[in-house]
Amino acid sequence: MKNHKSLIYLPLWFFQTRFLGKKKPLQTVLFINDNCNLKCKHCVIYARSTPIIKNYKQIRQELEYSYRLGSRFVDFEGGEPTLWREGNRDLNSLIRLAKEIGFFSTTITTNAQRSFTGSEADSIWVSLDGTGKYHNEIRGEGTFERLEANIATANHLELSVNMVVNTLNYPAVEQTIEYAKNNPHIKLISINFHTPFEGSEELFLDWDKRREIIDLVIAKKKAGYPIMNSVSGLKRMKALNFKKQCWVTNFIMVDGTRYAECQGKTAGVCNRCGFAMSGEMNAVFNLRPDTIFAGMSLRG
Ligand SMILES: C[S@@+](CC[C@H](N)C(=O)[O-])C[C@H]1O[C@@H](n2cnc3c(N)ncnc32)[C@H](O)[C@@H]1O
Repeated sequence: MKNHKSLIYLPLWFFQTRFLGKKKPLQTVLFINDNCNLKCKHCVIYARSTPIIKNYKQIRQELEYSYRLGSRFVDFEGGEPTLWREGNRDLNSLIRLAKEIGFFSTTITTNAQRSFTGSEADSIWVSLDGTGKYHNEIRGEGTFERLEANIATANHLELSVNMVVNTLNYPAVEQTIEYAKNNPHIKLISINFHTPFEGSEELFLDWDKRREIIDLVIAKKKAGYPIMNSVSGLKRMKALNFKKQCWVTNFIMVDGTRYAECQGKTAGVCNRCGFAMSGEMNAVFNLRPDTIFAGMSLRG
């Protein structure tokens, strides 16, 4: 753990939420803009006609609000968060602000199309939807090559990749896991499935294929590949018949709407959820040791 305060805070949070029934978030997903330098096939965010870019003051208020709720980890999301600017402030200014407020750890999620060398985020999630042609088909020609060059240059020690499996890239799961293992700039790979928000339903992978892929990922994990998902969490994602604890993360959307849990609930897509975190959280609440260990290694 990078922050010693979390060694006290995390067991206390777990006790309050697991045994006293309190629902307080531990993590915040904060959308800071919705402008993006890509138009990915699976994404319904970039399509908005007038981009929203939050100002520093609003982001400060939203961070303070989330901190007061109990959150101690923040992920800056977009749009493409590395595009965020206000005067001479950039994404690193927001990372410093979150740390000043008291967050233990900050994360950014990026498409890695721009250089992020010098990022002060504690960890970086790069979205990788397959190798070569698979990634390019979803995200646009040349995007895989730029991603590869930028993660090599950044050489960030806590950089992991996030693959969202859909009807276009499911044949590439095994090779993407191999790629992550062999790329010295990647620490872990996380496997998620496409969640069919309105306008992207056709990319939802059918349940038989999802189960096949989960079995493959479990086999790879057991063989020692650097996969973030735990076996317990993956098994839960096969049928989704578990109690969702999705209030562990609060979401603040780009229009300022504050959700106490994943926006998938409002969108009515929980029964086809692909976010691995839902299975992982349930496994944590059921004290699955493999999941607790996976969570700890993720936090460095
Ligand atoms: C919306 S993007 C924004 C951050 C950044 N521009 C990027 O591409 O990583 C954040 C993450 O959400 C994932 N994502 C987008 N739509 C999704 C969906 N319908 N289901 C699951 N994940 C999705 C993306 O693949 C990406 O990893």
